[in-house]
Formats: sequence, C-alpha cells, structure tokens
Amino acid sequence: MTNNITIIGLQWGDEGKGKLTDFYSKDAAAVVRFQGGNNAGHTVIIDGQAYKFNLLPTGILQGKLAVIGSGVVLNMSRIIEEINDLRKSLSVSFDGILISENASLIIPGIHPEMDAIQEKANGNASVGTTGRGNGPAYMDKAGRFTIKAGDLLSLETLPIKVEKLLFLHNAIRRGLNEKEIKAEDILNYLKKCGEILSPYIGNVSQRLYDIKKAGGQIVFEGAQGSMLDIDHGSFPMVTSSNTIAAQVSIGAGVPPSELGFVLGIVKAYTTRVGEGSFPTELTDTTGEYLRTAGAEFGVTTGRPRRCGWLDTAIIARSAYLSGVNGITVTKLDVLDELSEIQVCTKYKINDQSPPFLFDAKDEVLQKAIPIYTTLKGWKTSTKGLKDISKLPLNARRYLDFIEKQINVPIISISTGPERLETIEIAKPIL
Ligand code: IMP
Repeated sequence: MTNNITIIGLQWGDEGKGKLTDFYSKDAAAVVRFQGGNNAGHTVIIDGQAYKFNLLPTGILQGKLAVIGSGVVLNMSRIIEEINDLRKSLSVSFDGILISENASLIIPGIHPEMDAIQEKANGNASVGTTGRGNGPAYMDKAGRFTIKAGDLLSLETLPIKVEKLLFLHNAIRRGLNEKEIKAEDILNYLKKCGEILSPYIGNVSQRLYDIKKAGGQIVFEGAQGSMLDIDHGSFPMVTSSNTIAAQVSIGAGVPPSELGFVLGIVKAYTTRVGEGSFPTELTDTTGEYLRTAGAEFGVTTGRPRRCGWLDTAIIARSAYLSGVNGITVTKLDVLDELSEIQVCTKYKINDQSPPFLFDAKDEVLQKAIPIYTTLKGWKTSTKGLKDISKLPLNARRYLDFIEKQINVPIISISTGPERLETIEIAKPIL
C-alpha cells in the first residue's frame, strides 16, 4: 500500500490545487508535476508572502524535491526564472530539482509563436489558449519531432535534432508567409539553457522508485482541470494534455498502483478561462460578484475568469474518471455574502437526461441546460476558519449537499488563500 497523494482539479482549472499541494506536501519526499507546462499558474501564500509558479511544483515551498516528469512540456527560460526567484527568496531552502530527461521542450521563437499562428487561423473558433506554446509542443512530441531535456546534454546530436524540428516548422511557416527560423539561433539558445539546467536533468522514474523503496511519500500535482483533458474534456476547447489521474502514471513514470490517495479539488463555484461552453456561467451581477470576491483573474495571463454556479454534474463525472477518494472544497468564503446559492446537479440535453458519464465535447455542452437546486446562503464570514464546528449551519448544509451529489467524502475545506486557512476533516489515507 502506498502513502502517495495525487491532486487533481475536477472543474476547468484554477480550483486551488497549488495551495493544497503545498498543504499536503508536509510529509512528502518529492512533489511531481506530470503534465502541462507554463500554461499553469499556481499560487501559494505563506505569512502574507505570495509565491507564484508556472512550472515548479508548489511543494518546493515545503523544502521537498521538486520533480518535472516526462509528461510536462518545459519552457526552459521560465523554469530558470523560477529557480532564480526561489534562490533570491531567502526564506525558502529546498532539497533539489529534478527534470526528466524525457520532458519535451517548449522553445521560445517556435512554440509560443505557433500557438499564436494557430489561434489566428482558428478565427472565431479560437480556443483562447494561454499562448504559451503548449499545444504546438505536444504536437511535436506526438509527431516525434520534439527536442527533449536530455538532448541538451548531447551537444554532438543536438544540431541534427534542431534541423529536424526546423524542417517541419519552417515548412509550415513558409506556407503561412511567416519568417523562417534560423537553426543557429535555436542552437545557441538551447546550449545556453543546457549549461544552466544540466545539473537538474536526470532519470525521474528511477528516482521516484528509489524514494518509494526507502518508504518516502510522493505527491503528484495536477495542472489545469479534468474538463480541460484532451480526451475527456470539452474538446476542442481544452488543453493539449491529459489532466485526469491516469496521466500520473504516464507523465511521471510510475505504475498506476503508485497514485495513492486521489484528492479531487473543487472550487465552491465554477470558473473558466478562455473560450468554450460553460453551462452554469453567470454573466450578471452575481457573476461579477464572484469574480471580484474570489479575485478571479488568471495567474498566468491576468485574464478575468468567467464565473458561474457550482456544477456537480461535471464534478461527479470528473471524480469518477480519476477515481477520486476524497475532495477538498476551496474558496468557500467567497460565497459568504450570498443569500441564495444555486447548484447544478444535472443537465437536459435535447430534452433528454444524458448519462452520468456524458460526452463533454464542446458541441454537446453547448446544448446542455442546467437543472438547479437552490440552497440558502449563510451570510456569515467563514474566512480563515480552521475548525469544522465553527462553520455556519447553512455552509455545512451546502457541503453536505455537494458530498451527496458526488458521493465522495469531503476531507478538507479551504477558507482562505493562506496555507493554514484550511479545515482538515480527515487525512488523505487510503
Ligand atoms: P493552452 O493550455 O494554453 O493550450 O490553453 C487551452 C485552454 O486551456 C484555454 O481555454 C486556457 O485558458 C485553458 N487553460 C490552460 N491552462 C490553464 C490553467 O492553468 N487554468 C485554467 N485554464 C487553463
């Protein structure tokens, strides 16, 4: 039996995974990112100081080994910046960083630019990506053109790999009347990054195996949310990686039995950034209230997030897909001032009730009519509460209602952005 923890977002991202990963990394030996790239933005606030990450797993603030698995697409400039920022912040010391030799690289000048070119070509059907080059980097990975972190260590073969990658990209760019990219520029950039990053690049699977053999705990930190999963989310308005728990095994190089306790993170309402259907979206003053009270602006791009009521139809589906064992509800305090709160529990699609594991493609969700249950608000501050017995009755009723809809126990509640503004109900133990 493993004591590992896998942390997964059950909505459209921005559920507060960063804070909870930090919270649950206290006893871990390593914290691992297993998918996504610097499209993610994770914030942790400790004693009033905010730490923002796009790539490093937030458990690094607990002084743990920070691991970037092969499932991640790595922007080297961004991780170098994050490492430098951490070194400057004197209050934090950490055990180390390990980057998988098989992580695919996002190369500035190639992938973010291709992201913009594709979005432009999509016109009205654009996805509203973060523009960080994730999609194009995963395309190169699947197309077997990618350059991997380990390639930075083999200077003899690196030029051939750059030529191969540019053979593809320059052909596309010529076709689109875009300026061609010079191999020499890319090669120089890669060499510079390689000099800085080479001490961190290595074999992630073996290291995680050694930690397991020594009885150490591993926390896997998901990025984005289950509804952004490329296979099971609201395609095509999704990210380019798998975001559900099964990806841990692939993107970290551990067997599925090593996922441990799967913790689903659920924000007490719903948000979404970028384009795509959002059945419970509120475009009225309540939506505006949630955005302001919840400070719902993207960590990565600063874009205002779209806000709406909680949707347990999607959360129950996401919880099943990831085999979630327990849930953390975040940002409960944002609802403090509402006198009534609605929760969508199911949809009608084409006048029919779709199955529990409904097809969540964007074109299907466009037709989804949410069916709501109205609950009473609590009109009392829950901000910063640490003790379940102090929760107002209607807040407990709200949480009980969620639990019943999803059929998974709530093991903790986040009542503010600070690490300790958390109510722990049960430990994440299988
Ligand atoms: P991409 O991942 O940058 O390609 O963007 C694809 C879609 O996923 C867009 O709708 C983005 O807004 C969304 N997305 C990507 N990363 C995040 C995230 O960390 N939080 C929320 N949405 C995200």
